[in-house]
Amino acid sequence: MDSVYTTTITTAAKKRDIQVNVLDPYQPIFELIYRNKSVRCYNALTDNIGAATFHLAQNKFAANYFLKQHGFPVADQTMYTNMESALRFLSDHHCIVVKPSAQWGGRGVSTHITCRVELEEALEFAREYCDEIVLEKCVTGIDWRLIFVNFKYVCAIERNPASITGNGIASIRELILEKNRFTRDTDPGNCIPLDKETLRTINSMGLDFNSVPGHNEYIQVRRTTNYHTGGTVDIVTDRIPSEYISVCEKAVKLLNIPVLGVDILADTTSNSFHIIELSPDLAISPPEGDIVVEAWLDYLFPDSIVNI
Ligand SMILES: Nc1ncnc2c1ncn2[C@@H]1O[C@H](COP(=O)(O)OP(=O)(O)O)[C@@H](O)[C@H]1O
Ligand SMILES: [Mg+2]
Repeated sequence: MDSVYTTTITTAAKKRDIQVNVLDPYQPIFELIYRNKSVRCYNALTDNIGAATFHLAQNKFAANYFLKQHGFPVADQTMYTNMESALRFLSDHHCIVVKPSAQWGGRGVSTHITCRVELEEALEFAREYCDEIVLEKCVTGIDWRLIFVNFKYVCAIERNPASITGNGIASIRELILEKNRFTRDTDPGNCIPLDKETLRTINSMGLDFNSVPGHNEYIQVRRTTNYHTGGTVDIVTDRIPSEYISVCEKAVKLLNIPVLGVDILADTTSNSFHIIELSPDLAISPPEGDIVVEAWLDYLFPDSIVNI
């Protein structure tokens, strides 16, 4: 009940005189009560989404399959069943992503897989987190999450991958450790992993952890844009083209999920995008958390008063 994903909600709720009734002190399960209405929550997830629909959206294979069937833009995807068909998928698409079908935060995700050795390592990495693994065509674009509350577009965030800036003296390992030292104090979940996937990213630029970047040299050290792999998050609500918003809104309505994050990779030069993930268990947290939580409480308790 102490994480920012819970406290952003409970703090805003209390300001509106909404009562918070903790149902499990170890998991973020609680009830919000206002006048004669009560809503059971697991952070931002409420009983307003059907259980089956939750799994449909949460599972990367099911979500991709559903969206594709209904004509939404998604990246080509297949379930991993055996090495032979995985290699066929790789040779058809040249560059693929390997990821657990039901995880979050970039756990077990390897991008830009182009050969058998990388594929084998990526599968091993994904298996650490989940038995069910999907292979997906690697697509390019800016990582935007469009957030919908009560089926309406509320805001968007842009996620960018972890990076370091050289000083001409320290190695990449030292620069990552130094950055992580600061991050650990504010949010340990935002540290840059010093793992094989980060090494593979810098190897692709001809570098390793001992390389010393020049003064002010910017180096992207991870390809996944997740906050939990050291990425950054900025609010970009007004920058999303209106046609992208309306396509995503149609998906939200069709799925019948009132509160949903729709993650897209947007290639604005070709004016196209792919939906790569749906987030029905939206993390309400900074920097956009204050905006989202107010819309979310307005939706759940339209009569509640903001006592600020
Ligand atoms: N098809 C893809 N093409 C390019 N990059 C991708 C693709 N799928 C995922 N990624 C990258 O990997 C990150 C994590 O993948 P995602 O499917 O969002 O899983 P998670 O639930 O762990 O966030 C994404 O934010 C994006 O940066
Ligand atoms: Mg994601």
